[in-house]
Amino acid sequence: MSMLRKTVRKAVIPAAGLGTRFLPATKAMPKEMLPVVDAPAIQYVVEEAVSANLTDILMITGRSKRALEDHFDGAPALERTLELKGDQTRLDAVQYSSGLGPIHYVRQGEPKGLGHAVLCARQHVGDEPFAVLLGDDLIDERDELLTTMMRVQAETGGSVIALIEVEPSQISAYGCADVVSVEGENYVRVNSLVEKPDANEAPSNLAIIGRYVLHPSVFEVLENTEPGRGGEIQLTDALQTLATADGVGGGVYGVVFRGRRYDTGDKLSYLKAVITLASDRAEFGEDLKNWMKGFLA
Ligand code: UTP
Repeated sequence: MSMLRKTVRKAVIPAAGLGTRFLPATKAMPKEMLPVVDAPAIQYVVEEAVSANLTDILMITGRSKRALEDHFDGAPALERTLELKGDQTRLDAVQYSSGLGPIHYVRQGEPKGLGHAVLCARQHVGDEPFAVLLGDDLIDERDELLTTMMRVQAETGGSVIALIEVEPSQISAYGCADVVSVEGENYVRVNSLVEKPDANEAPSNLAIIGRYVLHPSVFEVLENTEPGRGGEIQLTDALQTLATADGVGGGVYGVVFRGRRYDTGDKLSYLKAVITLASDRAEFGEDLKNWMKGFLA
């Protein structure tokens, strides 16, 4: 049967979570606005979407998240001041984030879980496959992931998740996938998914990370997904339903990512992300590394 397959154009970036792991920093400020070297984490995520040609971006926000919208908007007074000072470098940096493209916003109202946040995108996305990029998960721009996932979505017609191999003791911090390989392909088929399993009950060491390319049939499933772990509507639970579904939009596939990824959602991972990315900066990377040698000695 031939099916008309639509290409992915839209990116959904959920950023409405409470960020409780990062309190008190996130009491009045979204965790997605925490600086990673000199740009907020969310800017890296938006850049990644734009580089993958996803020019229609919808951000899911909520209370205390206004800084997100301000960051991607023009800042006339600031821009005028920099212009008068002749500070072109900083002016470019300020204008860059508002030039990343039109970004649409919808508010979640109440943070009822990642699945619920994705469901808030239903009207904007409509009936086409779309990408989901979590606002606190960074993929190194030198490593490629999203375009591979989009290709796998087009090939399979299902939904696609990104997986990394973790130490078995770490799996309880992630959603976990039980998979089978697909002959001759560089992706796997997902049999089942479980959100944050105990280490001794986990079906594998393959952890779900914050990139998805989803078939729009996920919306119907999310509508009917009851709150799961933590009383939240879990995207993982909806994908578990799709994994075993036949028919249009059924089937979940996984791309195992072996590149560099930085989690900025908890304190220790965030610090590691900042240090790693700062060490690569031409302006001060060498200075920083030399300083660290002395600091450790
Ligand atoms: P997390 O579980 O990492 O975010 O959700 P959180 O709930 O903000 O963090 P903690 O656990 O309390 O520290 C992953 C992504 O989903 C978004 C978050 O903003 C984050 O980008 N999210 C989560 C929503 O948009 N809405 C929700 O209801 C939950």
